[in-house]
Amino acid sequence: MNKDFLTDSQGIPVSDDQHSLSLGPSGPIVMADPVFLEKLAHFDRERVPERVLHAKGAGAFGFFRPYQSMAQFTKADFLQSPETITPVFVRFSLAGGSQGGADTVRDIRGFAVRFYTDEGNYDLVGNHVPVFPFRDPLQFPDFVHAIKPDPVSNIRGGPIGTSRFWDFMSLRPESMNFLSYLFSDIGTVQSYRTIQGFGINTFKWVNLRGDEVSIKYHWEPCAGVQCIDSRTATQLAGSDPDIAGRDLFETIAAGQPVEYELCVQIMNVSDAANQPFDPLDPTKIWPEDMIPLLPVGMMTLNKNPGDFFVEVEQAAFSPASLVPGITLSNDRILQGRVFPYGDTQRYRIGPNYANLPINRPRHPVHHKMQAGPMQTRCNDGIANYLPNTLGGGMPLPAPERGCPAPQFASGEIARTEPEGDDYYQPGCRYRNMTELEKQHFVSNIVENLSQAYEPIQNRMLEHFLRTDPDLGRRIAQGIQTVP
Ligand code: HEM
Repeated sequence: MNKDFLTDSQGIPVSDDQHSLSLGPSGPIVMADPVFLEKLAHFDRERVPERVLHAKGAGAFGFFRPYQSMAQFTKADFLQSPETITPVFVRFSLAGGSQGGADTVRDIRGFAVRFYTDEGNYDLVGNHVPVFPFRDPLQFPDFVHAIKPDPVSNIRGGPIGTSRFWDFMSLRPESMNFLSYLFSDIGTVQSYRTIQGFGINTFKWVNLRGDEVSIKYHWEPCAGVQCIDSRTATQLAGSDPDIAGRDLFETIAAGQPVEYELCVQIMNVSDAANQPFDPLDPTKIWPEDMIPLLPVGMMTLNKNPGDFFVEVEQAAFSPASLVPGITLSNDRILQGRVFPYGDTQRYRIGPNYANLPINRPRHPVHHKMQAGPMQTRCNDGIANYLPNTLGGGMPLPAPERGCPAPQFASGEIARTEPEGDDYYQPGCRYRNMTELEKQHFVSNIVENLSQAYEPIQNRMLEHFLRTDPDLGRRIAQGIQTVP
């Protein structure tokens, strides 16, 4: 048969999929019409549930190349030589907005990078600001509920929506640093080509000798960092709501590569206790004047997805996808992220999501997990268990490359609230802004906070005053002048 002819999903030739079988030209349609039944039934199932957050995104393929060997710090296979070119897939997203949301609204942007390395997939799932609003993962569902639409009316803004947001934040003062980024103009952008990316959480790199260092990841856009003011963001949200996704797609389609430099901050694990901040607290930055950025390599995005649903919607990133040489630190938020990504993906896409081409590692996988909906991976023989002799004892345990880093833990198991100075870093950030940046920051907050209920406004004003007296005073004055 000519390969260009129309078929159904079984490959059977179809001569007409535009006209339902009907009883004469004006009679009812006939249900015993396989073409009709299959086309409509498949259409009814075209969606999977959207991500709980980071629902709207755009993706691109490319490659990563280190500038030099990082072997001194990590045995990660893809960071050993500038000769090693590793394919990547990146998904940028809006954290709080749902799939129909506008790209320019005030929000955190996701910056999720998958490295398809020779030792499996490494996912660096980051955001475009360097800090997180809280430091215990058990608060995550509450935070997401507070930023999503009101459960009664399904409305996000207005007095109720803004009050819900500020209610939560005002009761979590560790969010002050996060708010100092979200409400600066960094919170409104029109292009993914001009945002930074941050791993936020502290990771550990381990070298072949088993020596560990703590690290923080940064992505620096080669096109420079750019953001837009609140007024422009609002205008674009109406006139061009998909602008960031369109900009990425059209730039790459025009043959222009999109580049980001990967940098790390490195700290000896033993130096953690001597810092004036807690290096495992994701609500704090590691100041770059104390711990400078070390350039690691360059990521180039140069290929658009062939099908958005197949390659972007079904992409399943997880901070638990770590390769040898990169491990978790005791950062609680990071530890709390190990479970929910795979869990939500088993629900969102299905238990065999890892078999999909976008999620599959470059090399064959060998394990004894089997079956389940939409399984495409065949068992290798009768020995679907370990240990076995009937399958030749395969697969063998993978040998550790180099020495493992020794792990110790002891202490009382309890529920505790970690302490920190939550006002110092956002205060410094405010004082370091130019006068124009301060004006925009204050008016962005006033525009939003002034809609919230008064007791909540007052609670927030106390936090802003403690962050910086000038900041608190300006916001209070701004709110008084709102009609
Ligand atoms: C307790 C803390 C956190 C929890 C429980 C959590 C949970 C989740 C979940 C369930 C998803 C949806 C995954 C999917 O359906 O595919 C998600 C997506 C995402 N999260 Fe988190 N997250 C946390 C913290 C963070 C942090 C600290 C960052 C940034 C460093 C981050 C960045 C992202 C990004 C970029 C995505 C979208 C990934 C994609 O493009 O598919 N999350 N998160």
